[in-house]
Amino acid sequence: MKKLSQLFTLLLVLAFVLSACGPAETPAAEEPMEEESAEEPMEDMANQVEVFSWWTGGGEAAGLEAMIEVFNAEYPDIEFINAAVAGGAGTNARAVLATRLQAGESPDSWQGHAGQELIGTYVAADQIQPLNDLYEEEGWLDVMPETLIPLISDNGNIYSVPVNIHRANVLWYNPAVLEDAGVEVPTTMDEFIAALETLQAAGVETPLAMGEQWTAMHLFETVLLGSMTPEEYNALWDGTGDWGSATVTQALENYKTILGYTNSDATSLTWQDASVLVVDGQAAFNVMGDWAEGYFRELGKEPMVDYGWAPVPGSVGNFQFLSDSFVLSANAPHPEATIAWLKICGSKEGQDAFNPVKGSIPARSDGDRSLYGVYLQSAMDDWASDVVVGSLTHGVVANDSWKTEIDTALGLFLGTQDVATFQSGLVTACQSYGPCSE
Ligand code: GAL
Repeated sequence: MKKLSQLFTLLLVLAFVLSACGPAETPAAEEPMEEESAEEPMEDMANQVEVFSWWTGGGEAAGLEAMIEVFNAEYPDIEFINAAVAGGAGTNARAVLATRLQAGESPDSWQGHAGQELIGTYVAADQIQPLNDLYEEEGWLDVMPETLIPLISDNGNIYSVPVNIHRANVLWYNPAVLEDAGVEVPTTMDEFIAALETLQAAGVETPLAMGEQWTAMHLFETVLLGSMTPEEYNALWDGTGDWGSATVTQALENYKTILGYTNSDATSLTWQDASVLVVDGQAAFNVMGDWAEGYFRELGKEPMVDYGWAPVPGSVGNFQFLSDSFVLSANAPHPEATIAWLKICGSKEGQDAFNPVKGSIPARSDGDRSLYGVYLQSAMDDWASDVVVGSLTHGVVANDSWKTEIDTALGLFLGTQDVATFQSGLVTACQSYGPCSE
């Protein structure tokens, strides 16, 4: 159906273009001319790839563009259709994607997070195809991190091509704002809370900038990690931990206290709006993934001058990671062109074009370090030496249903500030949709 309607649209466009050319140069409709115009769009349609993502905003679109450029240079005959839908963390895009998949209007390839999002959603619903042959052909098993392969595999099949590693637990700060208030970069939760208090007392309007709800979940997962050991954090996701424990209660209390220092207009701010408050000197801190650094650089901001970074307090030595990857749809209209796109996604050239701009490190272990700025070089070092744990907001540790349930409990909590109800909501969420037994 979709092919037919695309063909129809193309024919209409072509008819319009031909008529716009004017009669002077276009001979009166002759038979061969008509045949040609009917065939051309068919060829064009076979030679395109539609790629779906949520990289439209500051820092993100530029990263994608850089990779598209590599694709266009390598495959000049394939038209790249950028079907990105705006909205950080894919909150809007993933809903649009779900509707398209349900309607049988699948894009060729889409952005998906390594981990439960990929395995628990797209693989579980048979929406994507295994890529084992491609991995073998391209030799990717030798260059992709061992930690990542299980998160994109099911039953011996590998299902996506990771383009990057992002870090979620980053505390961005404005060095001048901290200095003026005599505040050191905090390394523990207690120091963090004390710093926020000092900043507020010093008249800093927004000690901690935050945006719309998914950024509140992002803050939540990092405070959770910062309030316990990485082993305790992991146990919450694999079913061996206890969401009802005193440790979790303390983490929720920390979260509640920290929220008290955020801006009151958070719900109306995108992640870019919130993080820019730091580099503009209106806020002291923002907790955001390192795509924020891609944005800061795009704005021409200077590392260590306009912004500094540290692990979220309490999570020093831990790397809370996520990985963007691209898939081959089970119903890809253009499977061959999609493989061409995936080859670029997995290539050293593609990743080294994309990541320095996007604010992430390459998923491949052989990236050219000299292309990356000082922040990303430090992220490379930490990725190699830290204890690695997964992100909730960005698809690693929980399947979509579980995450949605947590999000509902969290949304309620943002209004009520009721820790006990939030905690029992988290206990139930794990029992209903996660690996916890009743
Ligand atoms: C994440 C994604 C990142 C970045 C971020 C903000 O889910 O993995 O690449 O795009 O959302 O939009």
